[in-house]
Amino acid sequence: MASAAGETGKKRAIRSFVRRSGRLTASQQRAIESLWPVYGIEFRPKRLDLDQIFGRAAPRVLEIGFGNGDTLVRQAASDPDLDFLGVEVHEPGIGHCLIRARETGVANLRLIRHDAIEVLESQLPPQSLSRINLYFPDPWPKKRHHKRRIVSPAFVALCAERLVPGGTMHIATDWAEYAGHIDEVFGDSHRFRCAERRKHAGDRPLDRPMTKFERRGLRQGHEIVDWRFERVA
Ligand SMILES: C[S@@+](CC[C@H](N)C(=O)[O-])C[C@H]1O[C@@H](n2cnc3c(N)ncnc32)[C@H](O)[C@@H]1O
Repeated sequence: MASAAGETGKKRAIRSFVRRSGRLTASQQRAIESLWPVYGIEFRPKRLDLDQIFGRAAPRVLEIGFGNGDTLVRQAASDPDLDFLGVEVHEPGIGHCLIRARETGVANLRLIRHDAIEVLESQLPPQSLSRINLYFPDPWPKKRHHKRRIVSPAFVALCAERLVPGGTMHIATDWAEYAGHIDEVFGDSHRFRCAERRKHAGDRPLDRPMTKFERRGLRQGHEIVDWRFERVA
């Protein structure tokens, strides 16, 4: 991950998020207390044994920054043969996702409450994922914040290492200038080829349900770009 020298001269990580102090509703709080032991995986800088965690060997899908988790839970419910791992730092979103998980009764879902970069680096083994979903990553529109954007050459290389050859990375954004950045970063990577790129008005997403931030972008009159990048063998 990108780093910058802090005031003390110590290296300080530049993260793709700021911790928002969004308040948990009472039901989200209860869901975290009762369901985290069922669906949650604690962050530790140690490789996970995913077969043991999910109780089977199956293709695995990672969603980075799942927000309120509606899309993640819907995908897990509609694809019971795949295992889904969601990573998010926003506590109310995690609470909301747990409520949805209980409602649908999905068994093929686990959540990690931590920076996805560190999860990819330390917890996920090489070639452990079939698919990575990154839907509407924070666009960090101000130039001085561009260094916070999650899509960077280092991130793309890390994702490539965690995907099986032929695995796919699905990205969507409603931010035209970020779309140009994503095209550029993936265009420079020899580890991925662009298998599909689609510009649309929320009506032709690539193989995913509509997300909360997509709806927000559409209300603001934004166009959506969806990509499917394939990990080159
Ligand atoms: C703009 S929101 C999109 C949420 C959801 N994917 C959607 O489309 O509705 C981006 C989300 O990514 C999360 N996020 C950003 N950087 C992250 C990181 N490094 N690790 C985990 N989550 C991250 C934020 O907390 C936020 O909830």
